[in-house]
Amino acid sequence: MSDTSFQVVLARTGTTFNIPADASILEVLELEGVSVPSSCQQGVCGTCETKVLGGDIDHRDMVLTAYEKSSGQSMMICCSRAKGASLTLDL
Ligand code: FES
Repeated sequence: MSDTSFQVVLARTGTTFNIPADASILEVLELEGVSVPSSCQQGVCGTCETKVLGGDIDHRDMVLTAYEKSSGQSMMICCSRAKGASLTLDL
């Protein structure tokens, strides 16, 4: 299954960004001037972990445990995506 686009809402500013199918959340936020700490960009270091306030996450990292993934409270925005149409992040 190929990736699809979705929207990301930054709760603290109320800003919405469209994440195209061929870009990560982190890539879009960096392009838009939103600074988020990151390192590996591959879902292995945990640096980009971001709190999630709403939406279903398509977890693709190797950092969170299965329990943490199912709780849906945070995600690695360098590689994980949305399962639905949008995600709300605590940024
Ligand atoms: Fe390393 Fe996202 S930057 S897990």
